[in-house]
Amino acid sequence: MTNLAILLSGRGSNFEAIARNVLAGALPARIAVVISNREDATGLDRARALGLNARFIPSKGKDRDAFDHEVVAVLREFEVEIVCLAGFMRVLGPSFVRAFPGRILNIHPALLPAFPGLDAQKQAIEYGVKFTGCTVHIVDEGVDTGPILCQAVVPVLDDDTVETLSARILKEEHRIYSEAIRLIAENRIRLEGRRVVLKPSS
Ligand code: GRF
Repeated sequence: MTNLAILLSGRGSNFEAIARNVLAGALPARIAVVISNREDATGLDRARALGLNARFIPSKGKDRDAFDHEVVAVLREFEVEIVCLAGFMRVLGPSFVRAFPGRILNIHPALLPAFPGLDAQKQAIEYGVKFTGCTVHIVDEGVDTGPILCQAVVPVLDDDTVETLSARILKEEHRIYSEAIRLIAENRIRLEGRRVVLKPSS
């Protein structure tokens, strides 16, 4: 069983989708701890309701190194092996990234490298793309730049609003995040440069 941590700042629907798969025995993993940098994150309440270890670690007013250090200490305390960022609205510093090399994952609501950063769904509508989607990637020291593990494509419809498009993308997010966790937990991938390739099955 691989120990997962989920880091979130808000609603936590990706966390809940992962938790459902873990509880159903569909992933070879357990959720060791859920951490939020916002006390009012719904995801934190849901984690507590599920009886999971849940920690609020405030980030406001702290410099990045101090905050990262506190989070890494909690991850070590719970012997975390894979860190899943799920709507976590803080950029991790280099020392955090280096503490879990290749084992921090993030989900982004666009087909990277298109539309990195905030408001990716709005960016896609405004640009006029006909398809967008979501990406699970390994976190490196940039923002939304790491090697890509899984992607899913969704159409952009003429009458889409940010809300309707986001809902269509979110459904796919909930599916591919667990797929990506499985690839890492089962040690199924290797990196060729920045390409993630499947290891040949033995
Ligand atoms: C998702 O759209 C995710 O792609 C982005 O933040 C949102 C988090 O949603 N990084 P939730 O908190 O998992 O519901």
